[in-house]
Amino acid sequence: MIKKGIILAGGHGTRMSPLTKVVNKQLLPIYDKPLIYYPLSILMLSKIRDILIIVNKGQLNQYKKLFQNGKNLGLKISYIEQSYPRGLPDAFILGEKFIGRENVALILGDNFFYGQSLSDKLLESKKLTSGAKVYLHKVSKPELYGVAKINHRNKIIGIKEKPKKYYSNYAITGLYYFDNKVIKYAKSLKPSKRNELEITDLLKKYLSNKKLFAEVIGRGGAWLDTGSIEDFYKTSNFVSSVENRQGFKIACLEEISFNNKWINKKEILEAIKFYGNCDYSKYLKNLIIK
Ligand code: TTP
Repeated sequence: MIKKGIILAGGHGTRMSPLTKVVNKQLLPIYDKPLIYYPLSILMLSKIRDILIIVNKGQLNQYKKLFQNGKNLGLKISYIEQSYPRGLPDAFILGEKFIGRENVALILGDNFFYGQSLSDKLLESKKLTSGAKVYLHKVSKPELYGVAKINHRNKIIGIKEKPKKYYSNYAITGLYYFDNKVIKYAKSLKPSKRNELEITDLLKKYLSNKKLFAEVIGRGGAWLDTGSIEDFYKTSNFVSSVENRQGFKIACLEEISFNNKWINKKEILEAIKFYGNCDYSKYLKNLIIK
């Protein structure tokens, strides 16, 4: 059972500049809450409680203001600063001590997942004992993504970064589960031409050992990579239409924690005090008067 998860919440955020000049991308709003709530909610739905958030140098205090040590959410949150964006596999080098001898989940701080039976899939994925598993989602423009070709048993048989010629339309999303070898593999990587450690190179290590598996997010599921301004607003609109139509919130962290029985009424009341008089607090209030 995977018990530890990492959220990569650093990065340049170049595509979103000037919004990201002062504020970290993951703290910008997706409709009614900061972006980081969404990937954090995914780890919580996986019932992962021991979480490492990797942040940009100098931005630790902003995150701490929001989550402290996680206790108020029934979590154990620790933080590490990344001195500069060395690439996604850097998560496992920086996180070596956090991971210890265990297996680990990684989610990118700017990835949004939503959909039917997603929680069941997440709970299944955390059972990974050896190899690596990546979440895939069908896209109409595979040339913009890292893509994977899979066989009928959901085993990955090939991956390509932004293929110019059609290869597969399964994009590799920002949610991954790895066994402990990931630390060793990450350390063995060399920076690419753009001077970053590449996640594709890391996945290729598992692929060459025939240990790379896929979980496909089906038609009922949504995946949005909120890296550009356009995607940011698309995701915001998606959240606003689902929340307003159905009356429940996506990624209300306290609600997930309450449902998991990690916190009780007392912590919800504290959260209401912390957030102040806002719609989010009103929603929390409704959870405990039911
Ligand atoms: P990217 O989308 O690759 O990069 P970015 O967020 O820096 O944005 P841009 O391309 O516009 O400059 O990053 C994916 C996610 O991973 C994002 O949430 C930031 C995070 N990240 C890190 O925390 N550290 C890193 O070294 C890298 C490369 C990304």
